Amino acid sequence: MTWHSVARVGAITPGDVVAVMVGDRELVLGLDPLGNAGQGRYFATQRACAHHGGDLANGIVSRGHLICPMHGWRFSTATGCHETASYCLKTYAVRVVGDDIQIEESDDASP
Ligand code: FES
Repeated sequence: MTWHSVARVGAITPGDVVAVMVGDRELVLGLDPLGNAGQGRYFATQRACAHHGGDLANGIVSRGHLICPMHGWRFSTATGCHETASYCLKTYAVRVVGDDIQIEESDDASP
């Protein structure tokens, strides 16, 4: 596993979701203001929506979910899953080291 620095702390404000690259993968990084018992929690998922590939970098974060701009599907920022659990986004571990926000590049070959 490899950690990649993708942003600086402070560059992502609560409710933001932005496109980032980790290796050759297009992901999104967000900050859910309600995560971590209201302390805020970073999350990272694949960029393409699990429904029809909508660009989640243009989504919004609301009430613990990342909402796709195309058809409004809601994915948990904690699990990456749609409420039916039939569709899940691939999620990635996020950590903060000093002023760097880092995402773990998994060995999984899925999106
Ligand atoms: S493409 Fe995301 S909800 Fe349809």
